[in-house]
Amino acid sequence: MGYKRIKLPYSYDALEPHLDKKTIELHYEKHHKSYEENLNNVILKTNIYESFPNIIDLLKNYQKIDNDEIKVAIREFGGGLANHNFYFESLKNEETFDENLEVVKAIEAYWDSMEEFKKEFEKQVKNLFGSGWVWFVKRKNNSLKIIKTFNQDNPWFLGFTPIIGIDLWEHSYYLKYQNKKIDYLNDFWKVVDWEFANKQFLLETNVEDSEDES
Ligand SMILES: [Fe+2]
Repeated sequence: MGYKRIKLPYSYDALEPHLDKKTIELHYEKHHKSYEENLNNVILKTNIYESFPNIIDLLKNYQKIDNDEIKVAIREFGGGLANHNFYFESLKNEETFDENLEVVKAIEAYWDSMEEFKKEFEKQVKNLFGSGWVWFVKRKNNSLKIIKTFNQDNPWFLGFTPIIGIDLWEHSYYLKYQNKKIDYLNDFWKVVDWEFANKQFLLETNVEDSEDES
């Protein structure tokens, strides 16, 4: 019983030469695993798992938990578990880009072109100071946005649906790219699974749990 990491949907070396085997192995087997273990160590002493067996539901209902210590664990470890589930599931070393995908058409409608969208995404990556993530999200009313979250904060806390998300903690790229964060981003684009992104884009955003965006 407890929250589980996804099973890695490919071998450690499947994303080579873009994301290297050693990084994927460490990232999944050490970092991702520790979020899973740390979360379960705290949550399984409570009855929270019975109420929210789905990690995404737990994150969406984070504000309803009335114990500060538990909330910190959900924020750090629960966020870490769900973010990494999303990240690993969203990557594929195959050509999945198709200009007929709904998500691609929506990006081109909002940003005029894929190039402009990627430029703004890169700007957010450059501007992220410290550890965190950059996300392409869908908000309520289907509006689209690129946002940063710090540490293991995530779109679900905000009532948003993530479509694409890049891990910008150094553990996700430093072995191969060292300080060249933008090289990592450029290679990340080569392994984004656009069919996965399209599925996320087509998910209904949970309006009920959404916060108003200022
Ligand atoms: Fe990570």
